[in-house]
Amino acid sequence: MMIEIPAPIDLPASAHSGLHSEDGPERGESRGRAKDPVIKVRDLAWLLFEKPDLDRAEIFARDFGFTIAGRTSDELRLRGSFAGSDAVVIRKGPKSRFVGPVFQAQEASDLDRLARHFGTEVDKLVGRPGRIVNLIDPAGVPVGVVHGADMHSALPEQVPLVLNTGAKLNRANATQRPAREPARVQRLGHVVLETPKFGAALDWYVETLGMIVSDFLFLPDQRDLGPTMAFMRCDQGDIPADHHTLAMHLSPGKGYVHSAYQVTDLDAIGAGGAYLAERGYQRAWGIGRHVQGSQLFDYWRDPDKLMVEHFADGDMFDSSIECGWAPMSASGLAQWGPPVTRDFLGTSPSPARLREIRDALHADDNDLTTSRLLSILKAMSS
Ligand SMILES: [Fe+2]
Repeated sequence: MMIEIPAPIDLPASAHSGLHSEDGPERGESRGRAKDPVIKVRDLAWLLFEKPDLDRAEIFARDFGFTIAGRTSDELRLRGSFAGSDAVVIRKGPKSRFVGPVFQAQEASDLDRLARHFGTEVDKLVGRPGRIVNLIDPAGVPVGVVHGADMHSALPEQVPLVLNTGAKLNRANATQRPAREPARVQRLGHVVLETPKFGAALDWYVETLGMIVSDFLFLPDQRDLGPTMAFMRCDQGDIPADHHTLAMHLSPGKGYVHSAYQVTDLDAIGAGGAYLAERGYQRAWGIGRHVQGSQLFDYWRDPDKLMVEHFADGDMFDSSIECGWAPMSASGLAQWGPPVTRDFLGTSPSPARLREIRDALHADDNDLTTSRLLSILKAMSS
């Protein structure tokens, strides 16, 4: 996806002094980047989902603020207003589920290098221009890397409100009336995945796709056992990239947690949220401002209970910013906002969740132990 970024942002000399984490790695701990990754992906291209009811998916997509890029009887493609590829592709399938992320390669030759590394082929995208390498990450998630896919040109933007901020009077003799309408999605920002095979999956994204860790979280009483969450960004050198394009955490569950889409500003989030609430959709958590990534956030459940996020004003880091290390806690997920919900944390006990816990603790090829699970549950209630 082409992100339109203005002139590089001035970052404070020490990004660790209050900007994104109080601490960097200690001696011997991971810096969260590979010396010589196979390739360096540019960004996420799109996320692939399956849903049984594309009509219902399209109604929610419009209410959430997507633009419909294409629709057939078995596929719905969604885009944002920024120039770039599709942001979401939903195929008709027997049940509602996330299939996997598709990343965008910097160069066409990156696909060949990647395919050679894994001893696989570069395939043509079906029914459209572009080529793709299809891989499976160590957590079992199908991951695509594309090049040459269709790019949409930019659409008109939702106009940000003129705000009176600080000591500046920017608006006089005029009222503030943000329209109660869908927040116009600009672009796909990030996806969050959970896995019991956290360590292997983390290494794979760093060493294969060249992602670099912006922030690690560790369990407060188990720092010596390594991190249990990583916020990863794409290494675009001098070009600032989203603080996280992929975030992943250790969990009994496998796969999708949420995906996030950028909108213009706080009023777009607020008025767009009021619009969704009015239509009976369920807010999962918000509105607030995160710590890692600093985004203004608002989380919603789509009609199939998949979690999606409106965000604005997130951190953009170039490759010079080193990773932070911070303890994981529920209260540390936001700088302000309502208390984090059990819905967001996924800590409501359900038969499916209990089955996941049983299976994860019985498998011997993952990172989840009873002591780590208890520590995660403790952190998520602190
Ligand atoms: Fe998020």
